[in-house]
Amino acid sequence: MPKLSVNVDHVATLRQARKAREPDPVAAAVLVELAGADGITVHLREDRRHINDRDLQLLRHTVKTHLNMEMAATDEMVNIAREIMPDMVTLVPEKREELTTEGGLDVLQKTKELQMAISTLHSSEILVSLFVDPDLKQVRESARIGADYIELHSGEYANATDIAQETEQWEKIRDMAMAGEKLGLGVNSGHGLTYQNVSRIIQIKQIEEVSIGHSIIARAVLVGLERAVSEMLALVRR
Ligand code: PXP
Repeated sequence: MPKLSVNVDHVATLRQARKAREPDPVAAAVLVELAGADGITVHLREDRRHINDRDLQLLRHTVKTHLNMEMAATDEMVNIAREIMPDMVTLVPEKREELTTEGGLDVLQKTKELQMAISTLHSSEILVSLFVDPDLKQVRESARIGADYIELHSGEYANATDIAQETEQWEKIRDMAMAGEKLGLGVNSGHGLTYQNVSRIIQIKQIEEVSIGHSIIARAVLVGLERAVSEMLALVRR
C-alpha cells in the first residue's frame, strides 16, 4: 500500500508571514500523525524562509512515524542532518529566488557534490533520496552514485493542461519508476499532487510513497488538518 508523507512547510510559511509564533509546524505534524499519515516532510532552506532549525530539532523529538528532511547538498545542510538524524534526507536543488522547488536535480552535472553528500550521510546511516525528473539518465546516474531512493518529480504531470499531456507525463513517471526499481532504487514521487490527480500516480505500483504539501495544507485551512489528511489518505490507500 502506498504511503503518504505530509509536507508541513506551508504551516511555517503562514507563521513567517507575520514572523509570529503560530501556527506551529510542530503542532501541525502531531495532528498529521494522529490523522494517520505515514510520515512528515520538511524542507530546511538555506534562507530559513519557512522551516527553521528549532522546528527541525523539535520535530526530531516529536515525529513518531518517519521524518524526511529535504535539503540542498551543501556542507552546512549535511552537517545539520548528521546532528538531527532524520530517517531520510531528500536532496533537492535550491534557488533563493524560486517560490518552490522548480525542477529535479541535475545528477549528471552535480555528480561530485551529490556523491560526497550521499557518502557522508551514509556514514551516519541516513537513507538518501534524490529528487529527479522522470528522465532515464538522471535515474541511472542516481543509482550509480549510490542513492537509496529517487523521488520522481510529478510537477509536469500535475501541470498538464489536457488529458493527453497528463497521460504522456504519467507514462514517463511510470517508466522511470520501473527503471528505478530495476536498478535497485526505492521510488517515491511528489510535487504538485492534489486530491484530483493523486489517484493515477498511486496506480504505479513501484511508488512506495507520495510527498504532498500545498494541496493538503490549503484544504486544511478550510476543513481542518485532520480531515484534510484523512481525505488524502483515503485516496492514497484506496
Ligand atoms: N517533494 C519535493 C522534493 C518538494 O520540494 C516539494 C515541495 O516542497 C514537495 C514534494 C511537495 O510539493 P507540493 O507542496 O506541491 O505538494
